Amino acid sequence: MNICVFGIGYVGLSASICLAKLGHNIICIDKDFKKINNLKNGVIPIFEPKIKELIKENKDKLTFETSLDKNLQNIDIYIIAVGTPTKDNGEVDVKSIYEVIDTIINNATKNSIIINKSTVPIGFNNKLQDYINTKTSLKLDVISNPEFLRQGSAIDDFLNPERIILGYNSDFALKKVLEMYKPMQLKEEQIITTDLNSSEMIKYASNSFLALKISFINEISKLCEKTNANIEQVKKGLMSDSRIGKKFLNCGIGYGGSCFPKDTKALVNIAKNHNIELKTIKSAIEANEAQIDYFLQKILSFYKENISNKTFALLGLAFKPNTNDLREAPSIKLINKLATLGANIIAYDPKARYDKVKQLNNIAQIFDNADCLIIATEWDEFKDIDIKLFKKLKDKVIFDGRNIFKNRNLEEYGLKYFCVGKNE
Ligand code: UGA
Repeated sequence: MNICVFGIGYVGLSASICLAKLGHNIICIDKDFKKINNLKNGVIPIFEPKIKELIKENKDKLTFETSLDKNLQNIDIYIIAVGTPTKDNGEVDVKSIYEVIDTIINNATKNSIIINKSTVPIGFNNKLQDYINTKTSLKLDVISNPEFLRQGSAIDDFLNPERIILGYNSDFALKKVLEMYKPMQLKEEQIITTDLNSSEMIKYASNSFLALKISFINEISKLCEKTNANIEQVKKGLMSDSRIGKKFLNCGIGYGGSCFPKDTKALVNIAKNHNIELKTIKSAIEANEAQIDYFLQKILSFYKENISNKTFALLGLAFKPNTNDLREAPSIKLINKLATLGANIIAYDPKARYDKVKQLNNIAQIFDNADCLIIATEWDEFKDIDIKLFKKLKDKVIFDGRNIFKNRNLEEYGLKYFCVGKNE
């Protein structure tokens, strides 16, 4: 199939590459000239495992462009994967989607379908369909196909989805989109078809539920500390109940990234417009914001509220491992708070770069002049670190925001160890 993907961010790029791997011809369109030029020259704009190799392997099936040229005819499927940021008033900004739709309407030469992967307010795709129908006599049917891939495992998630949600109101469109996914040989139960509004709701509800789960475990972890329970043992007990599940129960310094913070707030706002107060999601947002202060307070208590001129070695900047993305990263919030209180910070991250902090490329060197250590992201590389390096810390103390050293007997090395949800 000839597929045209608009918006070459995480979702658009991963989808394009995976669909090329499935045998389709993909035209990737993004108005960011620099990004497209880089991609044409094999320079990948993001760090994401497997992307580089897959682009190389499928380069004959991938074309990168900044606009939909009239000559690019014969498109079977258009995919929209542009950003839908939250405006200051809490509304979802869908401007970029309309820009793409106008481009499609002005260039389409035959009946085809439009798959919307961008996260949009409930009811939006129906409105979009009405807009398209008033502007063209071609049959351009909208499918809502929210994406559930995670940064850091985007390719594997796309190619091995637990489920594919297809919101539709045209059999023609459903048939086409199933044809597109056919090479994945999905089982019947992996494909869930719904109406357009329900599909949009599934995306927001999924992300909000996961955010809720994280805030829940973070709050339970606080209570564990006060009651001398151990969150790791508590977690084991919780996870053994299949109704609760095994995933997204890692406590820490809060969730970040470009999705959970944005989508939870958007859902609360959508609900507000319908005079519904989403108390659970509002609380999940509040708890997440409080989590970083709770962790900061551990540090401040240790230092009797005075950290001015203390030097903190900080491991991990990215909002999660295996990505270089800093959007809404808890580490950045923490760095800003520490810096405001007069601390110096020396950071290390395998992939992420943050220009407002001193950063070293050699993990061992960040210990040279440090008073203490903070772990903000659980990269595998940190888990394998030589513990002897910790002896260099002048104050012999570690604040582990991701509990990665919870099973290492750091006391043996004369170190004081603070983590989340467990008293040292
Ligand atoms: C999330 C969803 O997991 C994807 O299904 C969805 O497609 C994506 O948003 C999106 O809407 O585009 P992502 O933000 O890439 O994916 O990463 P996650 O693995 O979900 O992690 C989000 C945040 O939660 C990270 O800061 C992570 O550290 C934190 N987290 C996750 C925890 O604190 N504890 C956990 O147990 C799990």
